[in-house]
Amino acid sequence: MKNVIITGANSGLGFETAKKIAKNKDYRLILACRNDVKAAQAKANIIDATGNDNIVTMKLDTSLLSSVRAFADNYIKEYGTVDVLINNAGISPMRESGTTAEGFEVVFATNYLGHFLLTQLLLSRFSHGGRIINVTSDMHNPPGGIKWNGAEYLAHEALNDRQRYAYSKLCLIYFTHKLDEILKSQEMAVTVNSFNPGFMAATNFSGGHADKARSLVVKTTMPDRYGELESSSDALAQIAADDRFAEVSGAYFDRSINTKRSSELSYNKENQEELWAKSLEFCGIEEN
Ligand SMILES: NC(=O)c1ccc[n+]([C@@H]2O[C@H](COP(=O)([O-])OP(=O)(O)OC[C@H]3O[C@@H](n4cnc5c(N)ncnc54)[C@H](OP(=O)(O)O)[C@@H]3O)[C@@H](O)[C@H]2O)c1
Repeated sequence: MKNVIITGANSGLGFETAKKIAKNKDYRLILACRNDVKAAQAKANIIDATGNDNIVTMKLDTSLLSSVRAFADNYIKEYGTVDVLINNAGISPMRESGTTAEGFEVVFATNYLGHFLLTQLLLSRFSHGGRIINVTSDMHNPPGGIKWNGAEYLAHEALNDRQRYAYSKLCLIYFTHKLDEILKSQEMAVTVNSFNPGFMAATNFSGGHADKARSLVVKTTMPDRYGELESSSDALAQIAADDRFAEVSGAYFDRSINTKRSSELSYNKENQEELWAKSLEFCGIEEN
């Protein structure tokens, strides 16, 4: 039995991907969600659709490091090893803003920092051939671009809405690149990749703002940024489970099983190092 953890698996991309992977009954899906009621409903729907009974819900709020730690402890006690971790949970600043009870800017904490800590806590538990996939966005490179102001600034200062989201997704790509380098240097048989699903109107992400008209505008004016929930979840499920992706690491998958280069800024090593060191500090982890 292979264990696949998907954060934010009760709706949208996480849910659809879980459902696709669950068609193979050799996989146990761990739906890591903040809302118990929604998680239970998602579990019931996946069992109904696939006949796979190995669907489990576990409480996880990625915006809180304390919740991430509790989840990792419970998970390790219960299941011991991880085969696939999909860091998918995410929020738009249009829906949530402010600072968490632990003092971090909420988009940075939810989309990036919680996933950074979760991955660190589970890293020694990955099986041979384990896979980590960070769900990012082409908005890591928004129209007009962004410049790196340092991790401290992102973690604590108020930024304008669009930038906060863009930075959180850029952080996930920095994380992918730096972790890939470490995994390769330590010859660990674990891969890490970034996945961009593209603009998907059919999820809860924009809270009803991504209506049909806006979707059409994106599709016609920015076809490079347009995605479909069906094809993106299909691609993500394949990257997570198909043998042909077993050795791909450090890549950026673009709305499909095809890879491309992420933004030039996302390859900046100095920024990667700075974010990594600061993230360890924010999470209270000593570098070894
Ligand atoms: N939709 C797009 O256009 C688009 C484009 C590029 C990238 N993405 C990325 O795709 C990923 C999935 O988004 P989606 O489009 O599928 O939207 P969605 O339907 O809103 O799914 C997001 C999931 O994340 C969960 N979540 C949010 N905050 C959380 C927290 N603090 N702890 C645990 N779970 C949390 C949500 O749970 P609740 O139901 O409790 O809110 C939900 O299950 C996100 O990372 C998003 O940034 C989306």
